[in-house]
This record gives sequence, structure tokens and C-alpha cells, in this order.
Amino acid sequence: MELLFDIARPPLFFNDVSKAIVYTTEEVPKWLKHNILRRLEQLGVDHACVDDLSKIDRRRAAIGDYCENVILIRKKGLDAQTLARAKEIRPERLIWILTENLAVNMVEFRKREVTVDGDRLPFTHLMPVEELKLLHYLGKHVSAPGVILEIGPHYGGSTVTLALGNRKNSSPAQIFTVDCLMHASFHRYMQEYGLEEEVSWFEMPSQELARSWASVSESHGGPAIRLLWVDGDHLYPGIKNDLVTFLPYVAEGGCVVLHDYVTAFPGVIQAAWEELYNNDAFEDFTVFRQMLFARKKGGSRVSGAKRLIQTSRPPNAPDIALKWLARHPLLQHKKIALFGGGRHTESLLNLAYEHYSEFAKTICCLIDDSDACCCSGRFPAPVRSLDSAINSEPDYIVISSYDHEPAILDQLQAKKRIRDKLVGIYTNDQFHRFLADQSSVKTLYSEEDFPALAVQ
Ligand SMILES: C[S@@+](CC[C@H](N)C(=O)[O-])C[C@H]1O[C@@H](n2cnc3c(N)ncnc32)[C@H](O)[C@@H]1O
Repeated sequence: MELLFDIARPPLFFNDVSKAIVYTTEEVPKWLKHNILRRLEQLGVDHACVDDLSKIDRRRAAIGDYCENVILIRKKGLDAQTLARAKEIRPERLIWILTENLAVNMVEFRKREVTVDGDRLPFTHLMPVEELKLLHYLGKHVSAPGVILEIGPHYGGSTVTLALGNRKNSSPAQIFTVDCLMHASFHRYMQEYGLEEEVSWFEMPSQELARSWASVSESHGGPAIRLLWVDGDHLYPGIKNDLVTFLPYVAEGGCVVLHDYVTAFPGVIQAAWEELYNNDAFEDFTVFRQMLFARKKGGSRVSGAKRLIQTSRPPNAPDIALKWLARHPLLQHKKIALFGGGRHTESLLNLAYEHYSEFAKTICCLIDDSDACCCSGRFPAPVRSLDSAINSEPDYIVISSYDHEPAILDQLQAKKRIRDKLVGIYTNDQFHRFLADQSSVKTLYSEEDFPALAVQ
């Protein structure tokens, strides 16, 4: 097995770290942990390790002054509890390294490559083929002036995809890409596809590139941006910053695509809501799989309608769900209990308390008694067990879960007392009709044209 993550190269984002708490778990291979710690030592980073996030405050004391960096090394993505705890600690910087993403077998990658429009697209386990197809399509068809900017290439799969589409564009653009850690495979891909000239890469946080963007990009057709593809920092402050700094550069008719526009990343949803939906300069909002697409007004639309993909369910978009709930005639001025204290509810409530305060006032409690509840103590509405919530006599119980809604409905319908009080979102025909009627936010759930790509 070939390891794509080359720990012998110091990740650049460690360079300006002088103190760090390293949190790791048993499942992380010892050799990897050892290499990362050795790298920190070589860089002179004062650090302490913890195997339990609740011990962080004590270990902070052990390395002296308040330590603003927490490096999380885990095998898989962060579970809700760890994330909630990590957010509570509120480090200035939360750097996480997921070993599962580091060890990838190149042979497996090769087996899963697909050919689109005559181009062999590299496999990236971080994006389904349909999403790669859309990136390739946009690389080929977006014709606004300016360059392509990608934030977060990781292995470089999305970079190659954009670049191959861009090669077929009648007026190809220079591609800029920035990542705080360029993987060894990124460089391999650049070489293999001969992209060294077409792609200018920067190993630094996107915010550092933002500071010199005007001068750095100017000689290659910038600073205007034709296509902004954002898949970097998924936490609210990071993506918010990316949008605030780069959106003004997007040219008229230029496109923006955000990845991971799903419940699991409440920060992405909130930042998109604040910086894109509420930005009069943008239109053609389209949720496509895990992507949010928007186009800057003016210029011409992307030409050449194309049937792209299929999604059979409405998108996992709690912001749209909230909009629907807040206008629902049944729910006006009623006492509402939200069932579920997971990421979906977290996203929904972040937006509700910020932008729908009248509706937020009607939420009397959240129902969740599991360890995975990530909303405890974070919102004015208290978290209750199901029985205690039922005893407080809510008018309606709204199921706030994307993945588990059918199962939860089944479970709750067995309780006679509340059978008539249940409101599902994603299994609800009214919600589906609402989605279809939305003029500002379009969603795809059949093999229809991607609206913004329609021939004008
Ligand atoms: C989910 S991965 C991107 C996957 C890639 N687009 C693909 O499809 O293969 C996110 C990447 O963003 C990078 N990243 C996170 N925060 C960043 C920041 N502030 N600036 C630049 N890159 C960042 C990470 O290092 C990581 O490589």
C-alpha cells in the first residue's frame, strides 16, 4: 500500500504554531502519531498530548500560557460529541488530521476513475462522480472573465477535474489553487496530467493568499474570478472569511460553488446563508447533491443545457427546511418541540436564532436524550427527554433529522398521545412542493437540466 500523506514534509500550517495541544485517540497508528509529534519537536513547537478532550484545560497549564492551537488526530471524521467539545474549548485554531484520509491505496484510486466528455477524471473519495462531472462541466462552459480559484484541493482530484474541463473551454483560464497542506498526490497529479503551467498552487491558508490576491493573480488574468470553488475550511469563521474576501472578486456572470453544503457542516450553511443568499449580487441558487451553486448577476449564463445527475431525495438543506417551517400556517404562534439534537438541528437553530427570531421564540424545547446530542446548553431552548417534553404539552413535535426521519416518525406514531402532533419535513409532500416553488433556491431531484446551465 502506498501512503499518499508524506509526513516527512512538514505541514506548512504547523510553521506559525508555537504551542499546541495534540489530541489523539487509540485508533490512530502509533507510527503516525510518533511522526507528527517528532515533526512538532523539530519545528520547536511546545506541545502537550491528551487522550481526552476534557483534560485539555489541565494540559494547557502544563505548557505555560494559554494555548490557542488544538491539533486533533483521529481515524474518522469527528463525532458530534467531540466536535461540540472542541467548539466549547474554542481554540483560535482547530487543526484536524484524519488518518483515514491519509492512507489511500493508489491502485484503488485508479480502479475508480471515470471518463467524462473524453477526459479521464481522477478518483477522489471526497466527491462523488456526479459532483466531479458538474465541476468539469463548469470548467468547460463558464465564460465570464477572470481566473478559476479553488480553495482546498487536497489530493488534487477536484483540481484536475476543473483543469480538464477548462482545457476544453473556448477561452481557458489560469487556475489558482490554495491549500494549507498540499498532498504528495497533488504534485503527482499535476505532473501526470501535465498541469504545471495551467495551475498555480499555493501552500498556505486561503486567508494568506487573500491578502496578496490582487497582485498575485493580476499577471494571469486576475484578480477577477470566473469560477470560485470553495472546499477548504468548513468551520464557520473560516468559510465566512473566504466568502467575504473572495466573493467581491467574482466577475459578472461568474459562478460560485461551495462543497459540503449539508447538515454535517453547519458553518458552511450559515456562511452561505449570510454571504450568498443575502447578497443581492447573486442569483440562480441551486442545491445540487452536496454542492451549493450561485451565479453573479450580469454577464451571460453558462450555455449548453445538459442532463447531469440524479438525486432522488430533496437535498439535506436545513436552511430551506427552516424557511418552510417558519411560514407553515399550522405552526404560527404554536408551542413547538424539535425532535433531535444533532447536526441538523444545530444548523437549523443557528439560523433560526440569528434570522428567524419570531419562529425561534416558539421552540419550547429540543427532544434528545442521547450522548450524541450536540445542542445541549448551546441554545435558549432546553433539551428534554421525550417523556418530559410530552408532559410539557407542545402543540407540535417537528422531526429535525434528515437521515432518520422515517424511522423517528414510525417510532413516535406508536405513541397515541402525540400521533396528531407530528410534523415531518423530508417525508412531507408540502415541503417538496415548497421546494419546487422556491424561486430563489432551486433544487434538483430528478434528471432535469441544471437550471443555471440552461441555454438562454
Ligand atoms: C475536503 S478537503 C478538499 C477535497 C478536494 N476538493 C477533493 O475533492 O479532492 C479540504 C481541504 O481544505 C484544506 N483547508 C482547510 N482549511 C483551509 C484554509 N483555511 N486554507 C486553505 N486550505 C484549507 C485542507 O487542508 C484540505 O486539504
